[in-house]
Formats: sequence, structure tokens, C-alpha cells
Amino acid sequence: MHTIVTVIGARPQIIKAAAVSRSVRNHYQEDIREVIVHTGQHYDNNMSQVFIDELEIPRPAYNLGVGSATHGIQTARMIEGIESILEKEKPGMIILYGDTNSTLAGAVAASKIHVPVAHIEAGLRSFNKSMPEEINRIVCDHCSTLLFSPTLSGYNNLVREGFNPMALPPYHSDNPKIYHCGDVMFDNSLHFAGVAEKTTSIIQHLQLQPGKFILSTIHRNGNTDVPERLESIFRALLGLSEQSGLPVILPIHPRTAKMLELQLTSETLDRIKLQNSLRIIPPASFLEMLILEKNAALILTDSGGVQKEAYFFRKPAVILRAETEWTEIIEAGAGRLCDASEEQIVSSGMRFLNHPPEHFPEVFGDGRAADYILSEILAFLNTKGAI
Ligand code: UD1
Repeated sequence: MHTIVTVIGARPQIIKAAAVSRSVRNHYQEDIREVIVHTGQHYDNNMSQVFIDELEIPRPAYNLGVGSATHGIQTARMIEGIESILEKEKPGMIILYGDTNSTLAGAVAASKIHVPVAHIEAGLRSFNKSMPEEINRIVCDHCSTLLFSPTLSGYNNLVREGFNPMALPPYHSDNPKIYHCGDVMFDNSLHFAGVAEKTTSIIQHLQLQPGKFILSTIHRNGNTDVPERLESIFRALLGLSEQSGLPVILPIHPRTAKMLELQLTSETLDRIKLQNSLRIIPPASFLEMLILEKNAALILTDSGGVQKEAYFFRKPAVILRAETEWTEIIEAGAGRLCDASEEQIVSSGMRFLNHPPEHFPEVFGDGRAADYILSEILAFLNTKGAI
């Protein structure tokens, strides 16, 4: 029996970890003991516990309770906590997801004490180091032993950064192995879409008509913390809703909620209050989000995960950023990069509503990425890297 430690902390990591935990439960219970560490980066019930319950991942064995703080303080507290858990549990591998501060902390803590790192969602790059996530991804990839890239472009980024696609075992952090393996989030969307359909009544609850609303999420600090950008995005949401006649549903991230009153002009705040077609609702659960995505006419987002889920459900995405790590979505014509430009967001949104894209090539795998990832991790553990 091998012990692996999985680090989660932010909402999207709970979602990604669910696919791998499900695979452990279904196929590897005799071989793998998974110890889940929650850093506590996200701590509100509707940012964390709701997802743990809904996605049926095992209860975290540890919760570091770090909460919100500056990047340095938050990451340092996590490193300290994760290091002592690794010393105690002595796992054969640590599994890290995505690009948050929890990912960075796990990578630093583990690699310094020679616990091999598996990075799921490796190789993604925005080529914009002003995003905290870009630093986190690069550091994590370069501390890792097994790097699982969901997309071909991610895999190619790793090759460009010097990772050897022909590496031979034994694998270790100086001789890492890179994989192009599909996206665990696609596994989850396939697995949970049917469940969500049967158990979730958010469409009725919000009195929406399927196909007759726009869905939006905004949480990147590059948007929420820059007043002109936040103002421009909200003006665009109001404008698009006016022009299209469709309501915009905005499940709000706590960071964005705090910033609205601080950053928006009183004119825009008044319009939000008066024009009730922009409907700000509390953060949605995972199953609710799937149902909202599946039934939306159009999705506007600065989230990586929501961009992808839009694509999984064959919905067009207006991306509220200047660049994306998920370049395949742009290449397919299913997403447009509109940054925070009011004019571009409204015009691209209207174009997508009038001419929805039809081609969604299968670029995120076959829905079985987690099983493949675990089979490779197990082979690594069984042979101490000599697979
Ligand atoms: C983090 C990740 C981001 C990911 C996002 C998903 C980093 C650097 N960023 O961003 O990549 O896309 O999670 O949601 O790790 N807050 C609460 N309650 C919570 C969590 C956060 O009120 O449960 C508020 C706090 O004011 C906090 C702010 O949101 O300061 C930001 O939280 P933080 O974890 O620092 O980053 P996110 O914006 O959530």
C-alpha cells in the first residue's frame, strides 16, 4: 500500500481532485491510501465545504486553516504546514493541482525534502508573469517529477522550456516525465452533468428559461483590483444585457463582492440596482454551476475552469482577459479574448449570440484522464520511478 498526499486549497482544486479521488475509490483502493490536506486558502462554506460534499471527495485528514493573507504570508504558512505533514506521513508522492498558492506551497515544501511531485494541469502558460498563477505554475512544473498536461499546447510549452519528451526511467525531479493526458475537469463534467440534471433546480429557482440567459464569473485580481477594468467589465455586462434582452447571471466570488462597492462608480452601482437584468447571486455550487453552464446562451468569464466548462457544454465564451492558457478554445473559434474592453465584450457577445459557434473539436481528452494519471503514478510508486 502506497501513501500519496493530495493538496487542495482553492475551489477549483477541490473540483480537480474529485476526479482522481474517484478513481482511487473505484480502481486503486487496495494499492493507494490518499491523504488529503486542505490548506484552508478558501474557507467560506460556499467556496469549500459545499464542493467537498457535492463532489464526494474524502474528508481532508488535515486542514491548515491558513485563510486569506498576502501572497508571502499565505504561502509561507502553507509551506510550514505541508512540510510537517509530509515528515509525518512519509508519502511516496504528493499530488498538486493547477496554479494557486496552495500548489506553489506544496511544490516547494515537497521538493525540498525530496518527496516526488506529480503536477496535474502542468504546462499551462499565459506568458504573463504579472499573474500570480503564472509564477505558481512555472515553479511547480520545475519542481515536479511527473507532469500531466491536459492539452497538447501545454505539453509543447514544457518541451519548449527544456523538458525532455524522450526522458527514460528512472524518473526524478532532474529527469522528469511529461505526459499529454487529457483534462480531469472534462472527466468531472461528464460524470456529474447527469447527476446535476436530476438533483439541481437552480434554473427553476432563479426562474430562468433554458438558452435565454447569459452567465458570467469574474474573480481574477487583475480585474477585481483595478478600478477601471472592473468598471469597464460591469458596464459591458449591463450593456450586453440591454442589447440582447437577456438577463446576466453572476455568481459572485467573495473577492469580487468585496470590491464592487469599493471600485465601481456610483453611476454603475446605481445601474446595477435599477437595471435588474444583471442578477448577482451567491457563489454557485459545482452542480449548480454545471446546470447554469449547460443552459446558458453565452458565458463571459475570466476563469480558466469556466472557460473550459463552457467548451465542454459547447457554449461560446467571451474571455475577460488579454490572454488565455487554453489556446485551443480560441483556435476552435469557440472563445474570444476581449480583455476588459467594454466595446469588445459587448460586440463579441452579440456576435456569439447571433452566430453561435458549431465546432468543438475534442481537445480535452476522452473523459478518462484521472484513471490514466493514477495508473502512471502507481507504476512510478511500484518501481520507485523506474517505470
Ligand atoms: C485563487 C487562486 C486562483 C483561482 C481562484 C479560484 C491564487 C493566487 N489564486 O484566487 O488562481 O482561480 O482561487 O477561486 O492562489 N475570500 C473569501 N472567502 C474565501 C476565499 C477567499 O472571502 O473562502 C476572499 C478574501 O478576501 C481573499 C480573496 O477572496 O482575500 C482572494 O482569495 P485568494 O485565495 O487569495 O485568491 P482567489 O482570488 O480566490
